[in-house]
Amino acid sequence: MTRQPVRSVISSAADALASAGVPSPRVDAELLVAHVLQVDRGRIAFIPFLTGEQGSRLQELVAQRAERVPLQYLTGTALMGEVDLAVGPGVFIPRPETELLYAWALGYLEMCGMHPPVVVDLCAGSGALALAIAHARPDAQVHAVELDKEALPWLQRNAGARQQAGDPAVTLHEADATAPGLLGELAGTVDLVISNPPYVPEGSDVAEEVARHEPRRAVFAGEDGLDVIRPLVRNAARLLRPGGGLAIEHDDSNGAGVIGIVEATKAFREIEQHFDLAGRPRFVSAIRTIGAAE
Ligand SMILES: C[S@@+](CC[C@H](N)C(=O)[O-])C[C@H]1O[C@@H](n2cnc3c(N)ncnc32)[C@H](O)[C@@H]1O
Repeated sequence: MTRQPVRSVISSAADALASAGVPSPRVDAELLVAHVLQVDRGRIAFIPFLTGEQGSRLQELVAQRAERVPLQYLTGTALMGEVDLAVGPGVFIPRPETELLYAWALGYLEMCGMHPPVVVDLCAGSGALALAIAHARPDAQVHAVELDKEALPWLQRNAGARQQAGDPAVTLHEADATAPGLLGELAGTVDLVISNPPYVPEGSDVAEEVARHEPRRAVFAGEDGLDVIRPLVRNAARLLRPGGGLAIEHDDSNGAGVIGIVEATKAFREIEQHFDLAGRPRFVSAIRTIGAAE
């Protein structure tokens, strides 16, 4: 294959993606071209041609994207806070909306003034929240809990890469975040529990990328989407010290449901609903009261 002008390659890739129903075809075409060229998207305007080899590689990627393989599985990376994470088949792709919970978590750690704080990320996936916090708060002792055997290698790989980049080690636990007695050695000592667990009600409409390519265990959580959150909140109550913070992301249909679950433990005060930029309920935060966990 001969070299091809970048502009026309982008146009035909965007057309192919649009025909396949990809929601943002032009942006995705540009990001795939940037990936093939190994430059930032903003630099592609300065590169006139793709080599024959780059053109072939792009064609393969466009064909996969047209099959609704998530863009991040093709480029291999996703972002949380200031941390780049490796992602691919088998692991959930961190979402921009989770940045809201991450920002709340950093604000809480700043406000509570603990040095060093103990932080537990339940349902850690690629390690997005745990590793972003470890990067932003190198004084923190961060624990990440993940159950899925396919997600764990991604978590280990990302944790290793962050350590190599100079961040402190995060303690990884292959464990069920809903199991009674989880992390018993930390009970009553944790300053912050954060979680973006699986929370979509079974049978909900989800994007084809999610339905066909992301792990089901990462997304769905029973008929009402609360099967993981219910027991996870009980574990959070047991792990947190009095005054410790909790933040859990949830489905936008379940704001009141999650508040009800947190209230029912009688172990929290200042239970608050937080909304995303579109005004949808996105996560709940709460502060552990003094008193025994249920
Ligand atoms: C929605 S993903 C979120 C991953 C990550 N926290 C993020 O924000 O990108 C939920 C993760 O929880 C894991 N998971 C599901 N059930 C679990 C359980 N009972 N215990 C621990 N992890 C679980 C899934 O494998 C998946 O990696």
